[in-house]
Amino acid sequence: MANNNYPYEIKDVDIPDTIVARNHDEIVSIGPKGYIFPRKFREMAAEIYNMEVKPTDVYVFSYPRSGTTWTQELVWLVVNDLDYETASKIPLTDRYPFLEGPMFINDSTKQKLLDGNKGNESNAKDIQNVVKSAVELVNEMPSPRFIKTHLPLSLLPPKALEAKMVYVARDPRDAIVSFYHLIDSMKLANFNGDFKQFWTIKNYQSWSPYFDNVKEAWEMRNHPNLLFLFYEDMKKDLKSSVRRVCDFFGKKYSDDQIAKLCDHLTFDNFKNNPSVNFDLMKKIGLMHTDKEFVRKGKTGGWREYFDEEMTAEADKWIEENLRDTDLRFPSMQ
Ligand code: A3P
Repeated sequence: MANNNYPYEIKDVDIPDTIVARNHDEIVSIGPKGYIFPRKFREMAAEIYNMEVKPTDVYVFSYPRSGTTWTQELVWLVVNDLDYETASKIPLTDRYPFLEGPMFINDSTKQKLLDGNKGNESNAKDIQNVVKSAVELVNEMPSPRFIKTHLPLSLLPPKALEAKMVYVARDPRDAIVSFYHLIDSMKLANFNGDFKQFWTIKNYQSWSPYFDNVKEAWEMRNHPNLLFLFYEDMKKDLKSSVRRVCDFFGKKYSDDQIAKLCDHLTFDNFKNNPSVNFDLMKKIGLMHTDKEFVRKGKTGGWREYFDEEMTAEADKWIEENLRDTDLRFPSMQ
């Protein structure tokens, strides 16, 4: 599958029969690290890899459920002179196209969504936007262009580091618990197992393997155009993380302005902010209305989900994956 436009091989993956509870029936793996994606990603892999990069572009990227949305709002406000008014009017999903987002909406899913929203023109328009190529959306944006992705660096344009990139990482145990809840909240996800089952199939989730995704960014953390943040640091001392983001973008704000921004970004304010809390997904029928995208916002919540066996597995998994790197998580010090 590798060709002039795309350097990696894309292979179909057979999910072992023993894995009964799964959320994708058709997945592919990409390149030497074997990153997992739904099959539809084939259609967009090269388009994303070859998209134009402008020095004014701003990427916020991460493994899913690591605090991406939180970081996106923080970055957008810092870059846009703390323009709360526009931030409240334009949903985050419109301010940041989700580069590979359309990979989840194949033709039959799209049809189901459109059927479920018959007669509602506004929702039908939102659905068309969700399925539209995000690269096209980015191309239509004025600069600075804000981009959300969970793709690891190696699957992004080779020149992506000419843009400004902010990566956020989170303790994998918390990220995976949160990922489980996200999948559980999605109406069209083909998964109805419990967390223990989800844990066994973590390596078959999109954007995995987790550690490769994080390590690719970690290795570039000293690059002047990449800022590497930890969710746990943001939770512990948001002000310091905000200051790091301001320095990274060369922005100077007063103590009062920073205090106001931290207040805007608190979990409770975030949860009640329709511009960032993904109400759109409920509106168009992608997400169950009794579930929340902005869910608990805690560190260490994984302990309530892991039994002894899973804790031991996680310890071993983490230890093995940290052996060849100086990446260390604040939650594990
Ligand atoms: P939980 O499911 O553990 O609550 P992402 O945006 O990458 O999908 O990450 C989602 C996770 O970030 C969710 O974790 C969500 O609750 C948490 N989150 C979102 N906004 C937050 C905020 N303002 N403060 C703390 N955590 C937040």
